[in-house]
Amino acid sequence: MNRRRKLMLGNWKMHHLRSDLVKFGTEFRQSLCSPLASVLEQVDVGIAPSFLCLETLTAQFPEHGWWNVAQNAHYAATGAFTGEISIPMLHEIGITKILVGHSERRQYFAESDQVVGKKVQACFERGMHPIICVGETLEIRKMELAEKTIESQIRAALQHCPPGSSFTIAYEPVWAIGTGIAATARQAQDMHQFIRRVLADLFGESVAIALRILYGGSTKPENISELLSQPDIDGALIGGASLDGGSLARMINSAVSV
Ligand code: PGA
Repeated sequence: MNRRRKLMLGNWKMHHLRSDLVKFGTEFRQSLCSPLASVLEQVDVGIAPSFLCLETLTAQFPEHGWWNVAQNAHYAATGAFTGEISIPMLHEIGITKILVGHSERRQYFAESDQVVGKKVQACFERGMHPIICVGETLEIRKMELAEKTIESQIRAALQHCPPGSSFTIAYEPVWAIGTGIAATARQAQDMHQFIRRVLADLFGESVAIALRILYGGSTKPENISELLSQPDIDGALIGGASLDGGSLARMINSAVSV
């Protein structure tokens, strides 16, 4: 039995206004199995909202251990990059965790493995904890190149990783994101086990055994328990099902009880 704490993160993408947050927070707290502070003693929980909601969410969830996560940042600390947000800007408002390389960033904003590697490196240089997203398309899976693709995404992302760096991996098959078709528990477990082997090869067995690997892609209250009961699945990155406070809370309740 591993001793990794479960980590349950909502990824709100470009959803929710600041004015939605009070209703969300009320429903979320009402549906949790116990007060948020006691839940946070057992599992790690948080949300990656829009940049504009970050501070409001910090105020709304002041409980110790709550993860307030940015969805993206530029790798440069400062510069002429109109429309971008830097890591020091996030630090200034108390953010220490960030999603890097989400497949929507890769797909719609042309983030290559190389750019993802630069962003991860910038996170490590500036004391930010990256949640590094990797995943294969359906075509790649059909060609039986899923493992090869995931391995090269991980190696590219972590090529400048100093020893002892703190990070999380999120495995999110592109074909499962927002489609309603989650990976089966078997498919997800097999890939998570493979990812842990790649991490062991890079950093050694004892480091790999302590690292958390989240699953993401069409998770919902109905399928989360089976996924979370797999030995190498350490939590979830939840998109659509995290937008409703009651739904996210029910998934967290499952994480507390697996
Ligand atoms: P989904 O999204 O849960 O809506 O499939 C997951 C993600 O993109 O992180």
